[in-house]
Amino acid sequence: MLLPYKNVKNIMTAKKIKLEVIILAAGEGKRMQSSLPKVLHQLAGKPLLQHVLDSSKALAPEFTHVVIGFGGEQVRDSLQQAAVNWVEQQEQLGTGHAVMQALPAVADDAVVLVLYGDVPLVQAGSLQALLQQAAHAPALLTARVANPAGYGRILRNQQGQLLAVVEQADATPEQQQIDEINTGILAAPASLLKELLPRVANNNSQDEYYLPDILALAVEQGMAVATASVDSELEILGVNDRLQLQQLEREYQRRQAQELMLAGVTLADAERVDIRGRVRCGRDSFVDANVLFEGEVRLGSGVSVGANCVLIDCEIGNGVEIKPFSYLEGVVVGDDCQIGPFARLRPEVRLEPGVRIGNFVEIKKSRIGAGSKVSHLSYVGDCEMGAGVNIGAGTITCNYDGTNKHLTTIGNGVFIGSNSTLIAPLEISAGGFVGAGSTITRKVAPDQLAISRTKQRNLDGWKRPAKKED
Ligand code: UD1
Ligand code: MG
Repeated sequence: MLLPYKNVKNIMTAKKIKLEVIILAAGEGKRMQSSLPKVLHQLAGKPLLQHVLDSSKALAPEFTHVVIGFGGEQVRDSLQQAAVNWVEQQEQLGTGHAVMQALPAVADDAVVLVLYGDVPLVQAGSLQALLQQAAHAPALLTARVANPAGYGRILRNQQGQLLAVVEQADATPEQQQIDEINTGILAAPASLLKELLPRVANNNSQDEYYLPDILALAVEQGMAVATASVDSELEILGVNDRLQLQQLEREYQRRQAQELMLAGVTLADAERVDIRGRVRCGRDSFVDANVLFEGEVRLGSGVSVGANCVLIDCEIGNGVEIKPFSYLEGVVVGDDCQIGPFARLRPEVRLEPGVRIGNFVEIKKSRIGAGSKVSHLSYVGDCEMGAGVNIGAGTITCNYDGTNKHLTTIGNGVFIGSNSTLIAPLEISAGGFVGAGSTITRKVAPDQLAISRTKQRNLDGWKRPAKKED
C-alpha cells in the first residue's frame, strides 16, 4: 500500500523516538490523611499509580522509571509486577530534583516523558500528541480550566509563544488571572534535561527545584516550547485529598456508564453502576440499580442483571437472567441460564445453557450440565454434573473430608431428593435417583434408586411428656 508522504514521515519520526518515561511518585500526599502512600489509593479498584503505569505501557517506552520516596518500599511491594526501574528520592526537594534522580539511568538519545503518579486518567492519545513535538525541544501539556487556583500558570509573549511557567505561590495577582495551566506533564530530549536541570535553582517561595523552570532556560537558549492540550479536564485532574479522589471516581464511573449505554446496554440508573475493570457487552442487555462489575466481565446480548448484583471476572452468555442480590466470581455462564435471587457462584464454575440456579445456592468449582436445576438452598462444590439433573432443596455435596477435597460426579437426568448429603468421592450414574433425606456414600449405578434413611416407625397411643410441677 502506498502511503501519502505525510504519513510516511509520521511513521518515521514516531519510530525514531526512543522513549523513556519518568513517573513522579515520591510525594507524601499529606492531605490524604493516610498511612497509605497516596499513589496506592484506589480509583476504580486500581491504585492511582497503576493507572499511570497502564497509560505509560500503552506508549511502549524502552524504560519506565518511577521516582519513589514517601512509603517507597510499600509502593514497590504493592506493584511488584510492574516492569519498571524504581528510583529513590530521599528528600522531596521538588519536581525538578525528582526528575534529576532518574536521569542517570536514562539514555542520552532518549526522549523523556514526565508523568505524575497522582494524575491517573491521562490518556495515551494525548501523550502521543505531546511526544510528536518533543524530539528536539521541550513540549508541555497544558489546559485551560475554569478554576486555575493552585496550578502553575503558562506565561506567553504577544506572539503566543510560551516563555515560562510561574507557580501559584510565586505568581503576581495579574499572573494569577491566567487560566491556562501547567498540567505537569512534560516531554523533552534527555540530553536537554541533563543539560538544563542542574542549572535550575531553588530560589523561589517554596525553596524547591521546579521542573518547569527548564522551560524558561530552553527559551533563553532560543528554543520554542511546544504545547499540546487535552480533550477533557478529567485527564489532568490530580488527586490531593479524598474529596478529589471521590470526585474523580464518580466522573470516571459516569464516563464508563456512558460508554456502556452507547454500546447497547440499558442502565436503570447510570449513577448507580460501578465498573472496576472492563465490561464488554453485546446489545440489548439491561442492568438494574446498584450493580458492581469488577475485573474482566463479558455480557452477551439480551442479558438482564438484577439490582444489587456483583459480577467479578465473569463471562455471561446471551439471554441470561441474573436476579437481584447475586454474587458471581470467576464464572462462565452459558446462554439462557437463570440465576438467583441470592445466588453465590464461586470461581471455576461453568453453567451450560439453560441451567437454573435458585436462591441461597452456593456453587464452587463445578460444571453444571445443560438444563440442570439447583433451585433452593444447596451447596455444590467440586462437582461434575450432567444435563437435565434436578437437585432438590437442601442438597449438600460433602466435598471436604477435613484434609482433602473430593469430586462428586452426577450423570445425566439424575434426581436428588431434598435434604440429601452426597459424600465425596462419589458417583451417581445417569438416571440415578436419590430418595429425600439420604446420606449417600457409595456409587449409584445407572437408573438405580438409592435411599439411606432409617425406616419410619409409627407408635400408637403416644403420650407427650407431662410438664414438671415445681
Ligand atoms: C506541579 C507543578 C505545577 C502544575 C501542577 C499540576 C512544579 C513545580 N509545579 O505543582 O506547575 O500546575 O503540578 O498538578 O512542578 N514529587 C516528587 N518529588 C518531589 C516533589 C513532587 O516525586 O520532590 C511528585 C509528587 O509526588 C507528585 C508530583 O511530583 O506526584 C507533583 O508534585 P506536587 O507537589 O503535587 O506539585 P504541585 O505543587 O501540584
Ligand atoms: Mg499536585
